[in-house]
Amino acid sequence: MDCENDILSNFELMAELSSQLTGEENEKEFMKKLLSVAIKSIPEAEAGTIWLIDNTLYKAVVGYNYDDDIVEKLIVPLEDSYIYKYIDVQDIIEIDAFKEFKNPSRIFHENVKQLHEKHENMITLAYPLKVGDEIKGHIYVDNFRLKKFSETAKKSLKIFGSFASTFLTLKSLRDEEKKANEMNSVYLSFITHEVRTPLTAILGYSESILRGKDNLTTEEIFDLVKRIYLSSKHMNSLISDLSTFNKLNREEEMNFTEVHLKFLVYESISIVEPQLSPEVELNIKFENNIPEMIETDPLKMKQILVNIVGNAIKYTDEGYVNVHISFDNKTKEFVIMVKDTGPGIPEDKLNDIFKPFVRLAKNKPGSGLGLAIVKRLIEKLMGRIHVESEVGKGTTIELRFPQKITAEV
Ligand SMILES: Nc1ncnc2c1ncn2[C@@H]1O[C@H](COP(=O)(O)OP(=O)(O)O)[C@@H](O)[C@H]1O
Ligand SMILES: [Mg+2]
Repeated sequence: MDCENDILSNFELMAELSSQLTGEENEKEFMKKLLSVAIKSIPEAEAGTIWLIDNTLYKAVVGYNYDDDIVEKLIVPLEDSYIYKYIDVQDIIEIDAFKEFKNPSRIFHENVKQLHEKHENMITLAYPLKVGDEIKGHIYVDNFRLKKFSETAKKSLKIFGSFASTFLTLKSLRDEEKKANEMNSVYLSFITHEVRTPLTAILGYSESILRGKDNLTTEEIFDLVKRIYLSSKHMNSLISDLSTFNKLNREEEMNFTEVHLKFLVYESISIVEPQLSPEVELNIKFENNIPEMIETDPLKMKQILVNIVGNAIKYTDEGYVNVHISFDNKTKEFVIMVKDTGPGIPEDKLNDIFKPFVRLAKNKPGSGLGLAIVKRLIEKLMGRIHVESEVGKGTTIELRFPQKITAEV
């Protein structure tokens, strides 16, 4: 067999496939075409599949010469698939697949048994599909009669596999771009709606002053100026949240130092305390077992506390806001618990509140960015957050931070 000619014809088939890459193609359709071209151009290939890794799962995307209905249902925990032991292999893998199937894990066996019921022998070539350095799945071609694949078959599968990787990379870039565009329109609507509201108010109040300047009493003017001041302040805080959130999306240096935790907590709370309503009691309690110093980025920690305690204070109209600081000896973590008797958050919204611009209560001012900022900052400080809430009763937010940041950031 003429190797070079074979590879050339592979290139030809792929050129044909490339010309069909229009930009909006469906992953499954494309993989199906690619697999069929691969199998037709590798003489020993009789059947094949393409699998993708989805977090902890391994899913068949398409099959060739296999029953579509069966292929569609092929999904196994990655750990249970026989590829798991080859998962770091970057090059072509040749497997006596039938032998692997004789000794599979139970889950994998049940799923794949149907596919190979008829076969008494099977060798498989697998090639990893990658986006960047990350293995995202595999392309497999199967043979039911031979003992080995030829070198040409291996070379060909490498070419098709690389082509599939290019497609996956393109697709992931496209998806990222789409997400960024969506985010842009969210930003835009934030600016045109949220930021514009106080601006419209400012315009209205100042117009009232200008129009009625001869007829207004000093008190009336004072009242309008006060409204202008409050609206400007609100607008300023919206823009400052937006700017903070934007910065967090970029890589940013962390400044870890040893700080005095008690001091940091009091300093943060003093920023939001003026907003406390007169019917609400604010209690701060430190347990005795707390080490004095904590290794953290003080500005970021302060921002987290200001947002969390600030929300508790802002959303609570009566009752109390309790801030309780303790140390968990088992995990060596500082635990900051902020408990309020505010309106609470419905269970099905507990995840949503961390998304940018999401606001459940519109009766209080805010950007909806506070918790999105908090979430990012907590990740950077290697902390954890847990929310418990009951509508009508109140909300408890637990923050946990390691005493020492030892891992790489
Ligand atoms: N302590 C709380 N009690 C009740 N609801 C809260 C509390 N904290 C946050 N929320 C809800 O989560 C939403 C998102 O919070 P956040 O991101 O800080 O935005 P913002 O406070 O600017 O609205 C708030 O609009 C509010 O509906
Ligand atoms: Mg907030």
